[in-house]
Amino acid sequence: MDNGLLVLGIETSCDETAVAIVGDRPQPLIRANLIRSQLAEHAPYGGVVPEIAARAHLDQIDDLIRRALAAAETRIEQLHAIAAAAGPGLIGGLIVGSMAAKGLAWAAAKPFIAVNHLEAHALAARLAPGVEFPYLLLLVSGGHTQLLACAGVGRHRQLGTSRDDAAGEAFDKSAKLLGLGFPGGPAIERAAENGNARRFALPRPLKGRPGCDFSFSGLKTAVRQIAADMDARAGPLGPQDVADLAASVELAICDTLVDRTAKSIAWFRRHYPAGTSLVAAGGVAANRRLRHRLAALADDCGLAFVAPPPDLCTDNGAMIAWAGLERLRLGLVDGLDAPVRPRWPLDGGATAP
Ligand code: KG4
Ligand code: ZN
Repeated sequence: MDNGLLVLGIETSCDETAVAIVGDRPQPLIRANLIRSQLAEHAPYGGVVPEIAARAHLDQIDDLIRRALAAAETRIEQLHAIAAAAGPGLIGGLIVGSMAAKGLAWAAAKPFIAVNHLEAHALAARLAPGVEFPYLLLLVSGGHTQLLACAGVGRHRQLGTSRDDAAGEAFDKSAKLLGLGFPGGPAIERAAENGNARRFALPRPLKGRPGCDFSFSGLKTAVRQIAADMDARAGPLGPQDVADLAASVELAICDTLVDRTAKSIAWFRRHYPAGTSLVAAGGVAANRRLRHRLAALADDCGLAFVAPPPDLCTDNGAMIAWAGLERLRLGLVDGLDAPVRPRWPLDGGATAP
């Protein structure tokens, strides 16, 4: 009987150590998906400290691999490949994950697969059955904001990208200004629940302009300005002020993302008439209001909207294992001399429209 493929994936590109085992028969199946967040280690510094991240990955990785194999009731010999995120990301962490994967691959005589972390986000939607290429992808994470036409594994065409901060960074920096802690996205989402999103008029940079690029740096400046003005007039922000500002930030970011995505749908339609889905991926795609807005947009345009469950939007091992499995199917394996790549653009080329 054909049991399909079974791949172990390792994610260590930022501040989560994650290991997963994913299979593909009869359909994509996550057999184990473990994650250890380093939030507590980085919290005192208000952001991710690369050296601390690398050491924490090193402390955790062996134990997580052992536990993932146990959770999946799998022996190393039963795996068909070992995959690791090889970039883009923080070099120390990438080396830890990549070396652990190469060591396993060498010891067990299995293929090693160097996965692009962005491609893993892009392919995570295909863990759900029925998401076929080509699709339009809004990839929104802490380091990247991109619109891409995904035509196949390794075949991604960039339609737009951020000219400055990523959407996740805009959430994180605004949250820091509001004293909401890190990571900022979930904190803003929570605070916004009791807020009036229309109280503050924040900028929507590039909204309505030609092309599909994004810009978010003006937003952070505006939030800082509003907070400083209020502080000067009436003293420190109260909880309702913080909630209203959080809601206004969330709305401004969603408006910008939706506007640019709508623009790219027209282009995608012309160039990929066979495409039927709008996919959202990356940590920011965990945001519920953004998901509702994108679902409504897709509906208006006659596209299906697909976003992985929130825990598969933020960094995780299953997306690395799955991207490895998709590459393995196509024979795209790597040598043990494959480098880690702190910068590794998905399409390497110029923006399309
Ligand atoms: O994909 P990811 O886990 O890591 C990177 O590859 O960057 O994305 C992390 C980013 C952070 O900026 C975080 O604040 C944001 O995703 N994020 C969210 C939410 N959950 C995570 N942003 C808005 N709403 C959320 N619920
Ligand atoms: Zn990510």
